Amino acid sequence: MSFSFQNHSYIRSYFITTALFLSQYFALISCQYVSFTNEKKNHQSLFISSFVFLEMSYALETHTKAKEQIGSLPEITPGSENDTVPLIQLGNKIFRDINLSANRIQACVTCHPLDGRSAGMDRQSTSRGTFGQLGKRNTPTIFNIGFSSVLFWDGRRNTLYEQAIDPFVNPLEMSLSSESELITRLQNDSSYQNFFSEAFPNDSNIDIHKVRLAISAFERSLISISRFDEFVNGDLYRFNQQELYGLNLFLELGCNHCHSGRTLGGNSFSKLESPEFYNPNDLGRFEVTGNPNDRYVFKVPSLRNVFLTSPYFHDGSVTSLKESILRMNSYKLNRSVKDSEIELLIAFLKTLSDRTKTN
Ligand code: HEC
Ligand code: HEC
Repeated sequence: MSFSFQNHSYIRSYFITTALFLSQYFALISCQYVSFTNEKKNHQSLFISSFVFLEMSYALETHTKAKEQIGSLPEITPGSENDTVPLIQLGNKIFRDINLSANRIQACVTCHPLDGRSAGMDRQSTSRGTFGQLGKRNTPTIFNIGFSSVLFWDGRRNTLYEQAIDPFVNPLEMSLSSESELITRLQNDSSYQNFFSEAFPNDSNIDIHKVRLAISAFERSLISISRFDEFVNGDLYRFNQQELYGLNLFLELGCNHCHSGRTLGGNSFSKLESPEFYNPNDLGRFEVTGNPNDRYVFKVPSLRNVFLTSPYFHDGSVTSLKESILRMNSYKLNRSVKDSEIELLIAFLKTLSDRTKTN
């Protein structure tokens, strides 16, 4: 097991765990040698000590697997080295500005609410655009989006920089007529002048490149750390028994073959095994590539915050986590998920929620 010497909380929990281990070990040994006069009591304490000992070894073993096979989120996203605070603040302002939709009533934050208990999506099956027009796909959360290399359900974009302007001119979303209309609106709003000159001190002319930089910097700042990360970083007491079982089950079933890496998804595609369950008019990645093999191929979503982001799937067709997991039986798992196992998986998935958005 390796750990960084700079990471004090890790070292602390590592010591606590080791100390607990040793104390259990000595308790076990001493139980075997104390006088025979109180035999019944000794048996009891031996039993309790062995139980705690086994529980701790199970937690430690699960922790090692989680660290190797999933991993925790780092505190910064790749590519964020040059993201300054003023750049992120500019991105935040643009993200929340309703004046940047055709009829001035919708902003990015309308469909991707971030504040309070909201987890980066609006909890609609499919969202409505600024004129009330119904979209065809479920809005994904944008928390931790800086760690994904596949963007949109069909993967039509690979970087946040490329993706940043799409929603403004998408006729199902904010419906501006063109990129230049976006720039004109920003230029005509004097409240932006300071923001642009703070973010770009050498040349504060408003252009599309700068808007892309600001929005993507803001999106990269949306990291959401969970209890699971604390567990992987060494705080073994953050998980109860059910959550440990759930995590083991997740790995045993092979959920992480598709929902892979520390984001538990978001970086690969998979073909729907039972397309008849879904909206037949959405051909997924085929709509981008035209390749017949890409029919019904969709992005594997990240499972981070999944407990907070119902309804599920690219068409938002399922509201319960239970049913979503049952549907995974039609995918390539190591074996099928039993009804009795679903509660354990849900207990684990709940630990992936942002710390500040749950009790
Ligand atoms: C009308 C609701 C709506 C608005 C407004 C909106 N989005 Fe989205 N967003 C969506 C939907 C729906 C998708 C998925 C679309 C798809 O996959 O085809 C999405 C996808 C995304 C993604 C990719 C997420 C992923 O997991 O692949 C990012 C990033 C994003 N939006 C950022 C933004 C930004 C930035 C704005 C404002 C400029 C914005 N959105 C405005 C509904 C909206
Ligand atoms: C073969 C690949 C694959 C495997 C294995 C897999 N999944 Fe999925 N999972 C997907 C795809 C693809 C989607 C999205 C499908 C869609 O949008 O229609 C998905 C969606 C989900 C969703 C809904 C998430 C959301 O935000 O919409 C949950 C929950 C989920 N999977 C849990 C699991 C669990 C738990 C396991 C293990 C029992 C598992 N998955 C195994 C590919 C897989």
